[in-house]
Amino acid sequence: MAGKQRENHREDVAGRANVEDTPELLAYYEDLERYKAGALWTVANKIEPWEPKSQSEPVVWRYKDLRQNVLRSVELVTPEKAGRRVIYLNNPGRTDVAAAVGWIYGGLQVMNPGEVASAHRHSASAIRFIMEGAGAYTVVDGHKMTLGANDFVLTPNGTWHEHGVEASGSPCIWQDGLDIPFVNAMEANFYEVHPDLSQAVGYEVDDMTRTWGNPGLKPMVGDGWNKGYSPMFKYEWVPTYESLQKYAGCTDGSPFDGVLMEYVNPATNGPVMQTLGASMQMLRPGEATKAHRHTGSGLYHVAKGSGHSIINGKRYDWAEHDIFCVPSWAWHEHVNGSDRDDACLFCLSDLPVMRALGLYREQAFGDNGGNQPLL
Ligand SMILES: [Fe+2]
Ligand SMILES: [Fe+2]
Repeated sequence: MAGKQRENHREDVAGRANVEDTPELLAYYEDLERYKAGALWTVANKIEPWEPKSQSEPVVWRYKDLRQNVLRSVELVTPEKAGRRVIYLNNPGRTDVAAAVGWIYGGLQVMNPGEVASAHRHSASAIRFIMEGAGAYTVVDGHKMTLGANDFVLTPNGTWHEHGVEASGSPCIWQDGLDIPFVNAMEANFYEVHPDLSQAVGYEVDDMTRTWGNPGLKPMVGDGWNKGYSPMFKYEWVPTYESLQKYAGCTDGSPFDGVLMEYVNPATNGPVMQTLGASMQMLRPGEATKAHRHTGSGLYHVAKGSGHSIINGKRYDWAEHDIFCVPSWAWHEHVNGSDRDDACLFCLSDLPVMRALGLYREQAFGDNGGNQPLL
């Protein structure tokens, strides 16, 4: 084993590991390796960094680049063979876990009119954000939801679900967002195909949104919802946008996010699911936010408008239906590129995990008037 390069992450700082390699120590490390053990001081500074070091790179996935390739998958594979026709977002720093950012998976799925995916359930939780097409629907535990552009639908962990497009519809493309990498990291992922490959619709269409999606109101009878996820399986774009407009008329907004609202579980006011949270923010015409950073990864979908974000000192331009990511603890600020129109960003994040586990931390960029100098 002579000459073998060993990890040793020394730091010349009081309180941090700083042990010089010697022939005797190197022999000792080899001995330990034989017993499937190691000396912590050789790796302590690596596994306990001073602050989070995300493996994820900031990336913009441009819809104009991806759309044609998503549609091409329709010609290349059948839904029966592929299971789902999805082009997934492969962050160069997270290819080992197929994540778009952090522990969040993202993909673009296409389905033709008349197609239905087989019903299944899994431990991972999912959202689906509709990008284009007519006639898309999702069934969750017997509740059928019709879906239009910029609507998003939940398929929480353990729920039977299937997606389809009505025969009278048009090809539909949507963004999938799941916590697959997280659930795999927890080594807790189960997957089951429905014994009948499809499930019966047992309720009025859109009943959960009609029941739970009313402003400031919830049912007084039959209000026994106690699951860990929202009973409102579908959040529609039109009331969301109206809410942002109303709120924008009476708030200065957040210096870091403009007019930002979180989608909530109406039974608890908590996040929509236990592991994934979602928000929509409006950047008013000409608005440029200040920079901040926080723990938690964000996968942004441009629901409306165009502009750019500066992430760790680099500019990333975006337009409608582009998707970009902000890694955990990365500095970020957003700029609406238009002086006339607002821009809206949908964000899927793991903030519920950060908050529930006491790991959330946030910091404002103090220097340079609160904005990052461009690198
Ligand atoms: Fe699924
Ligand atoms: Fe942020």
